[in-house]
Amino acid sequence: MAFTIGSYSISSPVILAPMAGITDLPFRQLCHTQGAGLVVSEMVTSDVRLWNSTKSRHRLVHDMEISPRSVQIAGGEPEMMAEAARLNVEQGAQIIDINMGCPAKKVCNKAAGSALLKDEPLVRRILESVVSSVNVPVTLKIRTGWNREQQNGLRVAKMAEDIGIQAIAVHGRTRECKFKGNAEYDTIATIKQALSIPVFANGDIDTAQKAKFVKDYTQADGIMIGRAAQGKPWIFREIQHFLETNKELPPPSMKEIKALVMKHVSALHQFYGEYSGVRIARKHVGWYLNTLTNGNEFRRLFNRIEGVSEQLTALELFFTQQETQYIACR
Ligand SMILES: Cc1cc2nc3c(=O)[nH]c(=O)nc-3n(C[C@H](O)[C@H](O)[C@H](O)COP(=O)(O)O)c2cc1C
Repeated sequence: MAFTIGSYSISSPVILAPMAGITDLPFRQLCHTQGAGLVVSEMVTSDVRLWNSTKSRHRLVHDMEISPRSVQIAGGEPEMMAEAARLNVEQGAQIIDINMGCPAKKVCNKAAGSALLKDEPLVRRILESVVSSVNVPVTLKIRTGWNREQQNGLRVAKMAEDIGIQAIAVHGRTRECKFKGNAEYDTIATIKQALSIPVFANGDIDTAQKAKFVKDYTQADGIMIGRAAQGKPWIFREIQHFLETNKELPPPSMKEIKALVMKHVSALHQFYGEYSGVRIARKHVGWYLNTLTNGNEFRRLFNRIEGVSEQLTALELFFTQQETQYIACR
């Protein structure tokens, strides 16, 4: 067991980061089968009046999920956040994660995500309000602070622990850094040392070796992976294996990649229906193709395909060709 959140024991320390527009149910299920110990949903707005939009409806599907079901909420108004948390729990969420880590400026015209870090009294009110409104564990995702001059990540993290937050993920950048420069892990190490709840290190971790370095350096309980999982969901088992054995897992065979991509694309078709499923599949297939030779040419062709069965047939053909001339991917 890697760590616990409330009564949930999480067996692998490698966690899928919430990514709006990417970590939908099909992708979370896939990453879970590839060894992710915890998969956090894309954020849902705390404005429940907007939950009837197609986008929110898809993000609010909590059934047939992997346990524990961690649902991220985003917003800047304490009572709305509490209501969103309560309703998500009613719909099956087993952990509520609060987004104070993503650089989206506003949700419903109010500061939200990492913008909240500038206003610590408001952070306190949001955390208290959400924690007291649900009887499931509440976790928090932050950056290291508002900007380099105001690195208040440690203060916010301590406040969160005192209020009853049960785990905290830290992206090693300030809000002002957006995605620029390299993530820094010193602040994550300091936060980990000061807290007794599980701390997850996040930012720029894209190989098993880097995951081990960051885990050793920060002593974090978990490693959270975002962009590196796009087109490479097997990174979770690679990291898990390396952390356990200090040895690299061989890359998946082309046959295995083919089966995985076909299953992923079929799941997207099923989840979103033909029109959106075909379009969302293009994005994911594009990422898979980045890891393969001859990917660019096929991408152009694939992006013009409009039908579900045509997409699957094209993938079948492409990957069968790749299998015969298998050149090792990453
Ligand atoms: C496309 C995209 C969408 C994201 N959406 C969210 C989100 O909804 N909630 C959140 O807390 N962070 C969000 N993030 C931030 C990631 O969870 C993560 O903190 C960040 O990408 C750094 O990790 P990485 O270097 O492993 O990608 C998003 C990042 C990306 C690239």
